[in-house]
Amino acid sequence: MEYLTHSLIDKSEALQIVNRLKTEKSSWQDGKITAGSHAAKIKSNFQLDKNSNLSIELREIIVNKIISNPLLKSFTLPNLIHGVMFTQSKDGNGYGSHIDNPYMPSGRSDLSFTLFLNSPEDYNGGELCIQTTNKTEKIKLSAGEMIIYPSTQLHSVAKVKDGERYVCVGWIQSYVQNNEDRNFLFGLDAGAKSLLAKHGRSDELDLIFQAYSNILRRLGD
Ligand code: NI
Repeated sequence: MEYLTHSLIDKSEALQIVNRLKTEKSSWQDGKITAGSHAAKIKSNFQLDKNSNLSIELREIIVNKIISNPLLKSFTLPNLIHGVMFTQSKDGNGYGSHIDNPYMPSGRSDLSFTLFLNSPEDYNGGELCIQTTNKTEKIKLSAGEMIIYPSTQLHSVAKVKDGERYVCVGWIQSYVQNNEDRNFLFGLDAGAKSLLAKHGRSDELDLIFQAYSNILRRLGD
């Protein structure tokens, strides 16, 4: 299972978002309302009303940051970034092991992401736990950092203790649905871009970029 962690926004920008979320009193809803019947039993958190002005404004900022980031774009090959929401988990809140719905009203989930908004020192617990065959990866990142991982993985959020956890979560429908195919392309693109940076343009690199584009065209939907 390949995942990517990356700094999406400055810490100060992330904390500014948290301050705005904290002062928004009226638009927080029980997280169970967007969970299926199975997930509702294990999901305990609060989420900002997706239709609130604050949610709409912040969502646009986050989506634009993702699509204008060359590394994230190359890793995810985003066709649609969707379902983006802001969640708050207080003392005792968490989210048991589950798999995200493959098809949501907003789009297909090929990749899931969590952008950590407040500092990890603000709370105990609250790790994103991604299950792989042999172990569970526990992820807790600094304010402004995000993790993008395949939606094919079982995952959970450890119970939050002593504090509050603010994150932004969402899904990416990729042009390339298959995780392995997408990772092959990511490696090829990274290698070609690195050659370009080291040696500049060449006829050979043109051929590599041509091959990349045509494989993407073949694999993409
Ligand atoms: Ni999930």
